Amino acid sequence: MIKIEKMNKNHINQVVEIENESFDIPWSRNSFEKELFENKFAYYFVALDGKKVVGYGGLWHIVNEGHITNIAVAKEYRNKGIGKLILKSLCDLAIELEMIGLTLEVRKTNKIAQNLYKKIGFKIDGIRREYYSDTKEDAIIMWKYFIPENEIE
Ligand SMILES: CC(C)(COP(=O)(O)OP(=O)(O)OC[C@H]1O[C@@H](n2cnc3c(N)ncnc32)[C@H](O)[C@@H]1OP(=O)(O)O)[C@@H](O)C(=O)NCCC(=O)NCCS
Repeated sequence: MIKIEKMNKNHINQVVEIENESFDIPWSRNSFEKELFENKFAYYFVALDGKKVVGYGGLWHIVNEGHITNIAVAKEYRNKGIGKLILKSLCDLAIELEMIGLTLEVRKTNKIAQNLYKKIGFKIDGIRREYYSDTKEDAIIMWKYFIPENEIE
């Protein structure tokens, strides 16, 4: 059974391993430490199989919005619903903190992640041209709102 918990310092080594196998430009260990210990707007969860970290995801709480910073699942645990579980936990947190919605950027070619976000109700809301410095790839901006858009002030 996979459990979701708040990320703590004991998880960081395993998180960095998953980060390195998941992204072309991975965050450093130092970035995760800063997120956990210094950024008071940051929230991170891990997915655990026993004590083993098998995925993680996080967001920044900016005014009344949540900006998803990253989400990844260890290669051998993908396609088992863990990504959805992490994303749903971020949505639950956002609702608990009374955010109006969650947003994220995803590479135009990353169809798997886009599928995941669409499954949870995220919709495409724009494009940032040449957002990724490594490949000059466009970013797709996605949003999921928790209150009707016509009620947003
Ligand atoms: C994106 C990622 C987090 C998905 O995690 P996951 O645990 O494998 O996803 P899930 O098993 O919960 O699947 C969720 C949905 O994603 C889509 N999906 C997952 N694997 C897929 C695949 N191989 N091909 C197409 N769609 C896929 C499906 O729509 C799936 O829903 P379904 O099972 O109801 O059909 C994982 O692939 C990953 O870590 N990728 C590398 C890092 C990354 O790209 N992060 C996102 C950055 S924006």
